[in-house]
Amino acid sequence: MVRTGPSDSVHRDTVLVLDGATAPPGGTGSGYTVRAPECPREQRPRLSKFHAPEIVFGPDSLPETAHAALRLGAERPFVVTDPGVTEAGWPAELLRHLRAAGLRPQLWNEITPNPKDHEIQAGFERYGSSGCDVVIGIGGGSVIDAAKGVALLAANGGAIGDYEGIDRISHPIPPMVMVPSTSGTGADVSQFCIITDTERLTKITIMGRALVPDVSVIDPRLLVTMPDWLNAATGLDALTHGIEAFVSLAHGPLTDTHALHAVALVHTNLPTTMIRRTDDGPRTAMAQAALEAGLAFTNAILGATHAMSHQVGGMLDLPHGLINGVLLPHVIRFNGADDPTRFVPIAQAMGLPARPGMPGDEAVDMVATEVRKLADEVGVPTGLGAIGVREPDVPRLARLTLGDACLTTNPRTATVEQIEDLFREAL
Ligand SMILES: [Fe+2]
Repeated sequence: MVRTGPSDSVHRDTVLVLDGATAPPGGTGSGYTVRAPECPREQRPRLSKFHAPEIVFGPDSLPETAHAALRLGAERPFVVTDPGVTEAGWPAELLRHLRAAGLRPQLWNEITPNPKDHEIQAGFERYGSSGCDVVIGIGGGSVIDAAKGVALLAANGGAIGDYEGIDRISHPIPPMVMVPSTSGTGADVSQFCIITDTERLTKITIMGRALVPDVSVIDPRLLVTMPDWLNAATGLDALTHGIEAFVSLAHGPLTDTHALHAVALVHTNLPTTMIRRTDDGPRTAMAQAALEAGLAFTNAILGATHAMSHQVGGMLDLPHGLINGVLLPHVIRFNGADDPTRFVPIAQAMGLPARPGMPGDEAVDMVATEVRKLADEVGVPTGLGAIGVREPDVPRLARLTLGDACLTTNPRTATVEQIEDLFREAL
């Protein structure tokens, strides 16, 4: 039996109510309010902390990356990216801005999706040999995680696998500036770094305050060069972050607001970005959704969907958000069967006809069905079998899930048998 996370961060009784269930079509959530009912003293949440980087947000903000690096003392920034983002042209534009500011950047783009332990080691060696001082990541979650891994090793040495777990980083790491090119991972504001362990064929989770970047520069222009499959996968990842953070045992009033708003923004805007790819409004809304979902989950942590998804991703090297999209409806029903109450505000955030006081199991069903509908709309397969998971894989995947840090804040405890059942339902 796995038991849950830190008891002093459990705030089950904090409830936020949404007025006006939907964000305006194509909008960024203006006119959309969150109202908190008065909370009796005995139910008030205890101390909580909320960490976040400095955030620069808005179209055409990319040049600000150079100013951020200068403020952090950069002379030779180490720019981490990947071949796909390089082809889209954003790193070339960034290098121009960095050079115009008098900096001497070094570019490293030799990483693959779901970055591997040996790639982080190679990046660390390149960083050390080029005399760099500040790390800049420009790309999706894989790039940003790789950039964090390089920075971590630059100050602490050893192998990346040595830091698996929570707060195992002892020396301060070089300053980090992140520029996301997808709308979903939240890695640019999070304290997480996810790396593939190529020996054990799993993903390891490294967590700690030291991994929160110093500055996140979010320019929605960069999102238009994402292929549709990546837009769908990262958008569903953001939705999963919002829902898992809202029901997490470590949620609190500061994370709830961001989590629910992110759910509303993804629900309203993700389908539009798949149809009208270059429209500014929906892209900017999705950039905000990814940011708010990231702020929510890095402080409230996640749940069983991510704990299970990391194992599938480590085994099959598939897009993380796509696996989440398949698993999330099943985990919602599993968690909701134990305590459905927090799924009512989530249903409201999605614009569904939910109301306080309604039977919670109806809200759970509404949310799970709507998530699956959204996944269908953006082209996510209906089962894990379609992406390569087989029945004989289930026991190993379930056993590894029990060791994942994200499971500790899932609102319902789970035995290995229950996790196996969830994997089988999702096949
Ligand atoms: Fe995620």
